[in-house]
Amino acid sequence: MEYVTLGKTGLRVSVAGLGCGGNSQVGLGHGKTEAEAIALVREALDMGVNVLDTAAAYGTEALIGKAIKTVPRDRVVLATKASIHRGGVRLPPTQVVASLDNSLRQLDTDYIDVFQLHVVSPALYDYAFNDIAPVLLREKEKGKFRHLGITETSPNDHEQRMLQRAVHDEVWEVVMLGFNLMHHNARAKVFPHTIANRIGTFLMFVVRHIFSQPGRLEAKMRELADAGQVPQWLAETDNPLGFLIHAGGASSLTDAAYRFVRHEPGVHVVLFGTGNVDHLRANIASLLKPPLPVADRQQLAELFGHLLGVGLELPYHSQA
Ligand SMILES: NC(=O)c1ccc[n+]([C@@H]2O[C@H](COP(=O)([O-])OP(=O)(O)OC[C@H]3O[C@@H](n4cnc5c(N)ncnc54)[C@H](OP(=O)(O)O)[C@@H]3O)[C@@H](O)[C@H]2O)c1
Repeated sequence: MEYVTLGKTGLRVSVAGLGCGGNSQVGLGHGKTEAEAIALVREALDMGVNVLDTAAAYGTEALIGKAIKTVPRDRVVLATKASIHRGGVRLPPTQVVASLDNSLRQLDTDYIDVFQLHVVSPALYDYAFNDIAPVLLREKEKGKFRHLGITETSPNDHEQRMLQRAVHDEVWEVVMLGFNLMHHNARAKVFPHTIANRIGTFLMFVVRHIFSQPGRLEAKMRELADAGQVPQWLAETDNPLGFLIHAGGASSLTDAAYRFVRHEPGVHVVLFGTGNVDHLRANIASLLKPPLPVADRQQLAELFGHLLGVGLELPYHSQA
């Protein structure tokens, strides 16, 4: 495993982070048992992953708590999240603190390393910053968590307007954002500021549905070509990103997807969600490989650098 420093948090984090939400929910989303999910988390830890990202909304905090019982607490970087709204209606700060306390119980731990506000829209940003963050900082002083973070609602904020504000407010030590082969917005709009302000980054939406489920990418290319947003040839092939797969390049589409984001300046931890041990191993292997060849990266920038929001799909069973 390779480790980097997560911005001003100073935490040493693995470049591969296990996302315990999304469609997979460490396998629970595909009907696997809690014991199987715990085994997958332990396998990830054995492979050097130290970042585990969950949320009150994912239903995986308790199993993570059980999975990490066998390792020293300081060997793991635990990240979880609380919602600040329900159906668009703001939750009072007391309820956010109650969510934090419940996460500590579920995770069965004394402290959380990175506590994040979950899926904050541009419209809710002022509330997050003015009303919620100050209350949480008092909980931080009590030792309940170490670093405060915020996550965007990628499917509803393609231009990353919320984060374009958050990166200028010192209170957020970590941000979670979407970035992928066909959604490069953060390269110009977010990463220059996270780098300048030493903010830690967690990446999501790297593969999601579009780069993992057969037919999704081809359908999207047809839609984009019809709208004049990508060249027609990309709609006329059954393997539109096949140009990335060659000797010296990527070995598969998911290999390309994880390697593309891993080496982007400003990226610290690439989260991936999986309930499949073979995918876990393959993804870690991809994240430890060199960058994609320069010519392939140039072609991706030329073809897709102007697109916004591709691949930012809602999960099947929740809001983010
Ligand atoms: N706003 C937010 O706060 C927010 C929103 C979204 C995500 N997140 C975080 O980011 C994490 C990652 O997001 P994500 O779950 O969408 O991850 P992702 O890595 O973009 O996509 C995971 C999907 O791809 C499949 N997959 C993974 N590796 C594969 C491989 N090698 N080959 C083929 N298919 C593969 C998984 O299914 P299998 O189970 O079959 O592997 C899963 O359906 C989440 O778990 C969560 O922690 C946060």
